[in-house]
Amino acid sequence: MSHAPHVTDLSGKVAVVTGASSGLGRNFALVLAGAGARVIAAARREDRLRDLATEHDLITPHRCDITDEADRGALIARAQEFGGVDILVNNAGWADALPAFEQPVDAFRATLDIDVTALFRLSVLAAQSMARRDGGAIVNIASILGLVASAPVTQSAYGAAKGAVISLTRHLAAEWARHGVRVNAIAPGFFPSELTDAMLADESAQGWIRRNTPLGRPGRPGELDGALLLLAGPGASYITGQTLAVDGGWTAR
Ligand SMILES: NC(=O)c1ccc[n+]([C@@H]2O[C@H](COP(=O)([O-])OP(=O)(O)OC[C@H]3O[C@@H](n4cnc5c(N)ncnc54)[C@H](OP(=O)(O)O)[C@@H]3O)[C@@H](O)[C@H]2O)c1
Repeated sequence: MSHAPHVTDLSGKVAVVTGASSGLGRNFALVLAGAGARVIAAARREDRLRDLATEHDLITPHRCDITDEADRGALIARAQEFGGVDILVNNAGWADALPAFEQPVDAFRATLDIDVTALFRLSVLAAQSMARRDGGAIVNIASILGLVASAPVTQSAYGAAKGAVISLTRHLAAEWARHGVRVNAIAPGFFPSELTDAMLADESAQGWIRRNTPLGRPGRPGELDGALLLLAGPGASYITGQTLAVDGGWTAR
């Protein structure tokens, strides 16, 4: 009888995590390093990345603005120094909360540039490297707001961007399956981070989250770790093109 692979063992793998200077990405870098992967931790705030690298020997800080094509190329080249990227976690992201009537077109475009175009180009560069070797895994950090509307919060630009991430996840998975590249996404509900701190500190927002979440609370730090390790690792060898909502049941209603 065969046994399941060690689903959380990433020893010898090289992972790139974008947006590793804070919030979810910082934790993702630590989780992947804890599972044995060499992690290239990328973001613009280098001091934060250097601080993160002091927490685990397997973490290498790398300054990168993901909206810049030269920076994107340099990030994938950095992974090449360690043998080439096996896992890409497209976590860096940006959101504003403007009503659509007040959304300047440039702000709408900027959201799509960070959340969609940069993710697309980085995925292409990583998948080209993966395809030349044994394949690899891409994990996109989408959002429940790519699956359902945010009302009464006004986040149409962000929702459009995350909806595109979920669609790209399917398209790229289908296109790159023959290269051994799996592409999946996680759609988190509400988790503490710089992006959500103000919202989660607000009493009425807390009540709104409790009322609309079957599990009755926001996510806790660490509650995305299992989904990440599954989708990035050998336990998901037959899973591609999927989006896993980790949301306490928000989208199950
Ligand atoms: N927290 C939640 O409840 C939640 C829910 C659903 C989805 N998400 C998604 O989770 C991801 C992480 O968000 P978070 O909540 O952890 O927010 P966060 O703490 O604000 O982190 C965002 C990260 O993205 C990086 N980033 C932004 N623009 C960048 C750029 N141009 N180049 C490189 N890095 C850039 C930031 O680093 P620098 O500023 O140092 O560059 C930062 O590390 C995002 O994609 C977000 O949409 C979060």
